[in-house]
Amino acid sequence: MEQALWDELKRVAATRPVIADLFSKDDRRAQTFSVSCDEMLFDFSKTQITNDSLDFLISMADAAGVESKRDAMFSGARINETEDRAVLHTLLRDLAEDPPNGLQEERQGVSQVRTQMAAFATAVRDGEFAGQGGKITDVINIGIGGSDLGPAMATLALAPFHDGPRVHFVSNVDGADLADTLDGLNPATTLVIVASKTFTTIETMTNARSAYDWMKRVVDEPGVQFAAVSTAEEKTSDFGIDSTRVFGFEDWVGGRYSVWGPIGLSLMIAVGPDAFKEFLAGGAAMDRHFQAASLAENMPVLLALVGIWHNQGCGHATRAVLPYDNRLSRLPAYLQQLEMESNGKSVAMDGSDLAVNSGPVVWGEPGTNGQHAFYQLIHQGTRVIPCEFMVAKEGHEEDLAHHHALLVANCLAQSEALMVGRSLEEAAEIMASKGLTGAELDREARHRVFPGNRPSTTLVYPKLTPFVLGQIIALYEHRVFVEGVMLGINSFDQWGVELGKELANALTPILEGKESDAAKDGSTRMLLAYLRR
Ligand code: F6P
Repeated sequence: MEQALWDELKRVAATRPVIADLFSKDDRRAQTFSVSCDEMLFDFSKTQITNDSLDFLISMADAAGVESKRDAMFSGARINETEDRAVLHTLLRDLAEDPPNGLQEERQGVSQVRTQMAAFATAVRDGEFAGQGGKITDVINIGIGGSDLGPAMATLALAPFHDGPRVHFVSNVDGADLADTLDGLNPATTLVIVASKTFTTIETMTNARSAYDWMKRVVDEPGVQFAAVSTAEEKTSDFGIDSTRVFGFEDWVGGRYSVWGPIGLSLMIAVGPDAFKEFLAGGAAMDRHFQAASLAENMPVLLALVGIWHNQGCGHATRAVLPYDNRLSRLPAYLQQLEMESNGKSVAMDGSDLAVNSGPVVWGEPGTNGQHAFYQLIHQGTRVIPCEFMVAKEGHEEDLAHHHALLVANCLAQSEALMVGRSLEEAAEIMASKGLTGAELDREARHRVFPGNRPSTTLVYPKLTPFVLGQIIALYEHRVFVEGVMLGINSFDQWGVELGKELANALTPILEGKESDAAKDGSTRMLLAYLRR
């Protein structure tokens, strides 16, 4: 996109108004600056975006070719240019019975593997597939990054639908992760799923081999209780996993976009194939909305434009994701990978330097916990942190409905407090009512001032069902896509993770004393000496 458009965005953002004033001047602001998709509502009225700035942001999306690039992605064009791959994770959740022409082979492959997954998941859940000690009681998914965060986040999110065996997730190469997970499990009734797109990731392969050794101590044929999910099927057979328990997928599914396919096997075993299908249907519903709605009515596009406004326009470098839904407690970590691995790049698709800041730092925790930890800084710190609240209309715990009312009240209270704040006069009045006077009143009042005018958005959904979770994840995927298109980034590669991997491989023999550290810098040599001592 032309530099002039970014310059203009910054110019517009520099004169942004006071949010509360926007509401005073326009009693339909909430309706104008919100959008629905099915029963989901995205409210971005508590931001400093005006009619004019929104029009400008939409014109930027148009200029960046968001719609044509979106269509290119869905059609299977090789838009991941630096890896020369198509980007078709959306096909994994496309359940259309009479799909449009094109991509027939890919669709057929996806549908075959989905059927194979459902048969296996059902067999595990029913006990038809058993361990050497009887019915499977525990499933361990060993994977990392996209091969862990998606199923781990979604399995927790869908706990009320979990009626299969217990499911555990091991990702960290720190032996503590595996050891703590294995503690108390019976190897003879445990199924291990090795989930790795490449089947080379050092953490996953190390954990998988150690889990294999753990199982070997008890059962005669450990490999029989292993399944694999990967694009590298030959490597799975080298590991000793029978091809009937290998679930493949293609390189056009990026790791962080892979929960919809075989990487979601652990989730499918937990909640069953029907609930898993509902999850896919939710994602597909968001795809249809993304493809059909105009830019101005398009939820993922508007979410992206709010992100661009705050980060590249206003210069707010971070974004807090604050789900008022305890079962979404892994969502911030999931979105960290989705957004930061996708758009954390300083080189544009054509190799030129990025004209503006790359994607934001994404972080967060569920409410209300975060309120008692870091919200202090969000309300009174010197930096502005745009907040993205999310909350369900209804919880699953019918007998604890009063909890849900409190949860919702807290969520709404936070966005209100961020916007309206509390002036020095108001704080002084409160202090005066407590009997304070003079210098003491002035000082104490200043500590109780909230600047306000801090932006937030709120995503409201009916209830955290598999369908709704699918919608939410697809919403964020497309948001990242739109932001990436506007920045001119390839959102589907991740070269930035490679250097650390290479250096870790080179350091392992040095740490083990097999190679010299002479070529290393002084700090690394000192740390190595300390750690080897
Ligand atoms: O190192 C980053 C990464 O490649 C992620 O993109 C990916 O999700 C993760 O590692 C795991 O990779 P794999 O599924 O190939 O083990």
